Amino acid sequence: MIGRFAPVAICCRKRIGDGHEKMRPKKNTKENKSMERTCLAIILAAGESTRMKSAMSKVLHPVAGRPMIAHVVDALASASISDVALVVGRDADTVAAAANTGAATVTAFLQQERLGTAHAVLAARAAIEKGYDDILVVFGDTPLITAAPLRTARKSLAEGNDVVVIGFETADPTGYGRLIVENGELLAIREHKDASEEERRITYCNGGLMAIDGRKALEFLDRIGNANAKGEYYLTDLVEIVRSRGGRTVAVEAPEEELTGCNTRAELAYIERLWQQRRRHELMLAGVSMIAPETVFLAWDTELAQDVLVEPNVVFGPGVRVENGAVIHAFSHVEGAHIRAGATVGPFARLRPGADLGPKAKVGNFCEVKKAEIGAGAKINHLTYIGDASVGAGSNIGAGTITCNYDGVNKHVTRIGENTFIGSNSSLVAPVTIGDGALVASGSVITEDVPADAVAFGRARQEIKPGRAPVLRERYEAEKAARKRAKAAE
Ligand code: UD1
Ligand code: MG
Repeated sequence: MIGRFAPVAICCRKRIGDGHEKMRPKKNTKENKSMERTCLAIILAAGESTRMKSAMSKVLHPVAGRPMIAHVVDALASASISDVALVVGRDADTVAAAANTGAATVTAFLQQERLGTAHAVLAARAAIEKGYDDILVVFGDTPLITAAPLRTARKSLAEGNDVVVIGFETADPTGYGRLIVENGELLAIREHKDASEEERRITYCNGGLMAIDGRKALEFLDRIGNANAKGEYYLTDLVEIVRSRGGRTVAVEAPEEELTGCNTRAELAYIERLWQQRRRHELMLAGVSMIAPETVFLAWDTELAQDVLVEPNVVFGPGVRVENGAVIHAFSHVEGAHIRAGATVGPFARLRPGADLGPKAKVGNFCEVKKAEIGAGAKINHLTYIGDASVGAGSNIGAGTITCNYDGVNKHVTRIGENTFIGSNSSLVAPVTIGDGALVASGSVITEDVPADAVAFGRARQEIKPGRAPVLRERYEAEKAARKRAKAAE
């Protein structure tokens, strides 16, 4: 199946800038026609991940709460590339499932043995044979890639180059393949292990993104051998092979940030940091306030609307949507929650999946809310657990209230109506319903439904014994003195 593409934006710079350059779509130009070329992207994700020292393939490790490989698939989709061949090996089924984000048609190919990046590309031979204009090879371990370098690489192919390599400048090139460029031409890529001392001083590196003329790809790829330090079939050898056959090879520079590869846990942490910086920056430019952005952790799908304020040390898990003007106070942990306009959360609050806070609702310090709808303006201010519940608009839930939702086997629901008042330290034993306008006395254990506008007491009645305190105190003093005497006599 050969994809057809709608005209897309053209990037006119040789060097891909800071990722924020303006892209102007041009209609019916020669360049634009070039972008209608068909394209197959091949993601390599079969490696053993040896350096990761992990029980699972590195491409399954999450960045911003989502497997690395899913970030790569979405970047391809954002460059309008919808035909994707995924080369899998280790943890094949799990990797293929994680890549299936729905953004592109992903077909998995198994690389039986891990014999190198060129060998991996050839595992997708059947897809290449379908005949595409452009072949883009991307690595499953570079999750920060964006559409810009993908588009640039394709444009460069359309200009008549046979192989385009996206490179980056880095202060620490250790481990990367070095780009050997002379007079603007890419002569070769030398892998770190095979590089001479002099070559190792080169700081211009292979970012792992390569575009190949799809009509010639197999002819070139089939010539790659494995005579190198690792005894692997290196995709990077393609450059010298193409040149020896009179082809044109170029390197185009992109920001280091987009091409950082993940081979170790330390690099994973670095990639997470870069991802977080990038996303916080985007959100702040879109009108979100963060007092100490470096302390706020976002998930891949965190949606924060304009005029949301996020205080320091807030962590967002996946599935969070926060509407205009809401405030997330310091040290809150929020996951799978919808926080509507003007609501406030924390400090020190935990919202778990299914928490749905109405407009101007408040969930304060040391409160946990799970799978619960909290009505507009309702207040849950201190030390409370609300789970498997609904709280009507305008209700006030006192400090220390617990919805007892679990009987040790099953979960049960608590329904609290509108404008109710639940006194402090109450236990609402589910299933139970508190009617609109009802009042629950503090310290109650409520096991039966409370009708609307009723007052419910669920606690022992207080007793008063006048003058009894001094009598008791005297008895306690006598007991203490007796204990002291006994100890002295021992
Ligand atoms: C590779 C490049 C290097 C570049 C760097 C950028 C080669 C030979 N080297 O090195 O020039 O600077 O990436 O990050 O291409 N894979 C397979 N099957 C295999 C081997 C690898 O699918 O047999 C996959 C891995 O899962 C990974 C990707 O290919 O996603 C790259 O492999 P990796 O071992 O990480 O290559 P690097 O040593 O990082
Ligand atoms: Mg790598």
